[in-house]
Amino acid sequence: MPAPKIHRLNLESVDSTNTYAKDNFDVLADGTLVCAEMQTAGRGRMGRRWVSPPGSNIYASLVMKQISNPFYATVTASLAVLSLLLETLPRGGFFIKWPNDIYAGCRKISGILCETVSGSNGISGIIAGIGVNINLEQSELDKIDQPAASLKSLSGKSFDLEKLIGILAKKLAGFYAVYLASPEKLFAEWKSHNRILGHQVTLIDPDGASRPVLATDIAENGELIVEEHGVLRRFNCGDISLEKEDRFE
Ligand code: ATP
Ligand code: BTN
Repeated sequence: MPAPKIHRLNLESVDSTNTYAKDNFDVLADGTLVCAEMQTAGRGRMGRRWVSPPGSNIYASLVMKQISNPFYATVTASLAVLSLLLETLPRGGFFIKWPNDIYAGCRKISGILCETVSGSNGISGIIAGIGVNINLEQSELDKIDQPAASLKSLSGKSFDLEKLIGILAKKLAGFYAVYLASPEKLFAEWKSHNRILGHQVTLIDPDGASRPVLATDIAENGELIVEEHGVLRRFNCGDISLEKEDRFE
């Protein structure tokens, strides 16, 4: 099947665009981009909150019916966001931080939350949720519990949100098409934008214990491969987190 066109569904206020897209998955066409001006219960991974005030950022969820692997949906969405950011602010220092974030230097500017939708015949598709800070003021960024950035905080300028959502939609269509034609090619491009590789990082277990390791590779299923005491070990993103203070510069 060819890659779908992206068509926008615009909402003023919603609890979460991901929840809306999931709840309405059966009646939304492949390629629908659910966008909202604000979210009252924006979500990150593992029940964490995504700060989503009105009118200043991108909050969008893409309905993907031709993909069943959430890791590849994350890859598709993060390449689209990265490309949007690099084109809009070429000197912003943007890179992908495994597994699902985009950073500007040592500050988080975007997060991707991909969720699987299942029906009676198994996986029906993925919702790729995308949050990108565009015109969020420094005073709002300061309230976030980890260092965060917006295009405005990095450049001192305001951006036309509508225009950027339009560009993002085109980028999503393009990378969705690359995925459908060659997932290997998409993965290779995504991997090349991960600054973590070849760097010492700090792994944090779910119980909070942390230890330094060398990030050596990312497997095609999304697992991070690290070297620890001369032995290679693989972790998926549910098993560990990476220390926020690790800077991959
Ligand atoms: P990981 O690196 O393992 O993904 P994370 O702490 O970045 O961990 P996520 O679930 O990916 O966790 O993202 C949610 C977190 O992002 C929140 O707990 C908060 O620290 C931060 N956050 C929330 N809203 C925003 C926002 N608008 N911009 C940047 N960061 C935010
Ligand atoms: C993360 O960093 O953990 C992912 C954050 C994802 C936020 C976006 S905003 C649009 C969509 N709706 C949500 O509730 N979450 C995602």
